[in-house]
Amino acid sequence: MAKKLWGGRFSKKTDPLVEEFTKSIQYDYKLAKYDLLGSMAHIEILKKAEYLTSAEANKLLEGLDSIYDAVEEKKFKFDKKCEDIHTAIQNSLQKKVGDLALKLHTARSRNDQVVFATKMYSKMELAKLNIVIAELGNVLIKLGKNNSEVVIPGFTHMQHAQPVYLSDYLHAYCEMLDRDIKRLGRIENDIKICMGAGALAGTPINAEEYKIKAEEFIKESKIGEAFNVQAVSNSLDAVSDRDFVIEIISALSILSMHLSRLAEDLIIWSTKEFDFVEIDEAFCTGSSLMPQKKNADVLELVRGYAGRLYGNLVSVLTMMKGLPLTYNRDMQLDKEPLFNSFEIVSSELRVLAGLVKTLKFNKEKIAEHLKDESLYATDLVYYLVDRGIAFKNAHTAIGKLIKYSLDNDILIKDMPESLLKKFSNKIIKKEFVKLFDPLVSVKSKKSIKR
Ligand code: ARG
Repeated sequence: MAKKLWGGRFSKKTDPLVEEFTKSIQYDYKLAKYDLLGSMAHIEILKKAEYLTSAEANKLLEGLDSIYDAVEEKKFKFDKKCEDIHTAIQNSLQKKVGDLALKLHTARSRNDQVVFATKMYSKMELAKLNIVIAELGNVLIKLGKNNSEVVIPGFTHMQHAQPVYLSDYLHAYCEMLDRDIKRLGRIENDIKICMGAGALAGTPINAEEYKIKAEEFIKESKIGEAFNVQAVSNSLDAVSDRDFVIEIISALSILSMHLSRLAEDLIIWSTKEFDFVEIDEAFCTGSSLMPQKKNADVLELVRGYAGRLYGNLVSVLTMMKGLPLTYNRDMQLDKEPLFNSFEIVSSELRVLAGLVKTLKFNKEKIAEHLKDESLYATDLVYYLVDRGIAFKNAHTAIGKLIKYSLDNDILIKDMPESLLKKFSNKIIKKEFVKLFDPLVSVKSKKSIKR
């Protein structure tokens, strides 16, 4: 096992089973860049507090810079024998700058390092995710625009309800994505990068020294974004708070729920029974036994992954439940669910954007479905309402008309005016039958501010 960040009070070697069981380097290596940025910020603070001379600070920064570049270029060798990423970086720095590296841990604990790095990671991942969410939104809008005159049956309870524009249907998902972007943005904004918690009780460094602007000493190119560091307002809470992790996974769960609904709609629409839409072969898979199969596995996985996200959320919520203050090792287990949630959601968004781009709507088939007269029943009610009938009475009259049509297997369109008048003497057949038109139906809905 590699050198640890602790050990002075131990006379025995750690059991290899314990080393294997407790380490997190196999996943927290993903925090490398952010741990390095935290160390760079910490050096600035140590210099201001005169724990480091300028020369020492520069030497340490140089060492960290070169590790950062190696990580960025994927050349850094993560020593999997280390307990975690914080240990791996500390050991690597010591190899580069010698025992000066041992000063870096002054007034610092892994407990605050972990929070710093996880918050930084979260902020950067949220910024990246924003772009992919918006991309899927744009693809949906474009698809709607390219099919702007297409009307489809709308459903409630999975039953034919009223005709709606396909573009409105697709836009409904954009609205969800828009809320996701805003929700995640609020969470991102609430994540404050704090230092000075130490292990739990604070450090001997004055709070003012912790107020720094990272861009002053970290090359802008390193992170592509400026970030401010501030002193913790409560050190106990700072090292034991994982609300931000829970909030992120919760918002990602909602996002994945939205994606699963989109996936489900597309799965249904692509069935032979519906046949509204054709999913491109490049986004389908086949069957090893049934040669005819062209399956929507991508969409099924998107639907299924929502469950994984909920699992991640429940796992972190449960892990945090009843934990006494402050840091407890249980909290190491927040990383995999967090990383996994980001990874799943961003790959779902990317593959969905690709798939949605290739969708081809089958207008003839949709037109067939739109022949169902029941889709226009509400429009028939409005026709009577416009002619002075109370809504409730109009609703009853049209309900009876529909039932008559179904029971006698006769289309309303084919009924003679004399028969129609039995349901309401306000019906004039010539006007009435014009209502069985999807475009007339959607255009009569004026309440939507597009
Ligand atoms: N890998 C650990 C984590 O992610 C580091 C913190 C260990 N801290 C401690 N006091 N033992 O939580």
